Amino acid sequence: MASLAPISQSQSLLNNTHFQTPPPQSLPGPNLGSEFLTKRGSVRFRTRRRGFPGLPMKSAARVVVVSATTAEKPKKRYPGEAKGFVEEMRFVAMRLHTKDQAKEGEKEVKEPEERPVAKWEPTVDGYLRFLVDSKLVYDTLEGIIEKAAFPSYVEFRNTGLERSGKLAKDLEWFKEQGHVIPEPSGPGITYAEYLKEISEKDPQAFICHFYNIYFAHTAGGRMIGKKVAEKILNKKELEFYKWDGDLSQLLQNVRDKLNKVAESWTREEKNHCLEETEKSFKHSGDILRLILS
Ligand code: HEM
Repeated sequence: MASLAPISQSQSLLNNTHFQTPPPQSLPGPNLGSEFLTKRGSVRFRTRRRGFPGLPMKSAARVVVVSATTAEKPKKRYPGEAKGFVEEMRFVAMRLHTKDQAKEGEKEVKEPEERPVAKWEPTVDGYLRFLVDSKLVYDTLEGIIEKAAFPSYVEFRNTGLERSGKLAKDLEWFKEQGHVIPEPSGPGITYAEYLKEISEKDPQAFICHFYNIYFAHTAGGRMIGKKVAEKILNKKELEFYKWDGDLSQLLQNVRDKLNKVAESWTREEKNHCLEETEKSFKHSGDILRLILS
C-alpha cells in the first residue's frame, strides 16, 4: 500500500506519480506543486504515463503527501485524512468553490451561479424551477437510501437532513400564493437519473454525491436561501432551510456515519469517491443556475 511505503519507496512513488495537491501547511514536506486544480478549476489527479507498478493507471494516480523529518517515521497523509474521510471530502469540495463563495475556494468564476450571490438577480419562476428540480433530486436520494441497494446505505436513513418533505410543503405554499408549479426540468432529471445509476453499482461515487448535496445545502445553500428570500420573497423563510432539531448535531451524526462507512474502503475506493466531487459540483451548479433563469 503506497501509504505504508518507507521513504525510499515513497520517493520512487513520487517520481512516478503526481498527486497534485498542496501539502498541508502544518506538515513539512517536498513541494509537490499546486496543480490540484486545473486552470478550469477542476480537480486533477494525474500520473505520469508509466503509472505505478502493481496498480492500474487510474489507481496509481493518487495522492501522496509526504511528511518526514530525518528522525521520525515517514507519514504520508491525504489532506484531511487525520480527521477522517469526511474531512478529505470537504477538502476537495472547498477547493471547488470560488474565492467569493468560501475563503478556501480556488476556482475561477465561469458560470453565472458562481458570481457573488449578493449580485444575483433571481426570479420567482426561476427559483420555483430550482426548488422543483431540487425536490426531484432529494426524492431520488431519499428513495435510494430507503431501498438500500448496498447495506451501508441503511446507515443514512432518517438522519434528519432529509429535504423532500420540506420541499413538498414549500411547493404547496407557492401554489397557495397562486403560482403554477412547473414540471422538473433537464438539470434535475439528468442528475436524478445519474444518482439512480451510480447508486446501484458504485457506492463510493454515490456517497460522494450524498455528502455534497446534503452538506452544501446546510452551508452555501442556506446563505443562498436567505439572500433570495430577501430579494424576491419578502424574507419568507422556506421549510427547505429549516431542520427539526439541532442542525450541527444532525450534521455531526452524519459525519460520524460517513467516516465509519469509509473506514472499510480501500485507498483506491476513497480516491474514487473524492474524484466524483467535480461531478457533484457540475450537476448541483446546473440546478442552482435555474434560480437565475
Ligand atoms: C453559489 C454557490 C455556493 C456558495 C455561495 C457556497 C458557499 C459555501 C460556504 C460559505 C461554505 C462554508 C465554508 C466554511 O465552512 O467555512 C460552504 C461549504 C460547503 N459547500 Fe458550498 N457553496 C456553493 C456551492 C456549493 C456546491 C455546488 C457544492 C457541491 C455540490 C458545495 C459543497 C459544499 C460542501 C461539501 C461544504 C462543506 C460543508 C461542511 O463542512 O459542513 N457548495 N459552501
